[in-house]
Amino acid sequence: MTAVMTKQKRDTKRARTKKKPAKKPATRPKQNAKSKLYASLVVQLLSLLKGEHDLVANAANFSALLFNSLPNVNWAGFYFLRGEELVLGPFQGNPACVRIPMGSGVCGVAAEQCETIIVPNVHEFPGHIACDVASNSEIVVPLFDGERLLGVLDLDSQLIGRFDDQDAEGLNELVTVFVAHEEGLIDDHG
Ligand code: SME
Repeated sequence: MTAVMTKQKRDTKRARTKKKPAKKPATRPKQNAKSKLYASLVVQLLSLLKGEHDLVANAANFSALLFNSLPNVNWAGFYFLRGEELVLGPFQGNPACVRIPMGSGVCGVAAEQCETIIVPNVHEFPGHIACDVASNSEIVVPLFDGERLLGVLDLDSQLIGRFDDQDAEGLNELVTVFVAHEEGLIDDHG
């Protein structure tokens, strides 16, 4: 007996066998939570800096923004280059050592080598300067005006392995915005 396919059956079969349309390729990779946070910090930093060019005031607000927005950070602040050493600038957290010679501690090494240093476990970093016994990991980002070293941004965490390449990228973007603003390179008169 020949099977008779009704119109309804034909349509149902067609619907079942119809190929799914190919997914549109994503135009850009999805931002994860950390990159979203850093993108929002850039916006907040620009808003805090707007109309103000006092270095101490802006560095103080910048450190407060980082300290209060980034999870698991127990110290955030600046050391500025004064002659041959780094001198404590505005920060949030426990009182810290005031002067760090170039090449000493994580800050001095980052300043001397002019590069961002991520230390997953500060207890394994030779010469680490312990300012807060609660700190277990650290990231130090140098600040440049062109080729000239201005100082470093230092963040500590009570967690081991708190900082990764995304933090390094995000913090480097933030210090670039900060230095550009201090140099008056960003038009903030709008
Ligand atoms: N740990 C730093 C010293 C500064 S404090 O962490 C605030 C270092 O080793 O350079």
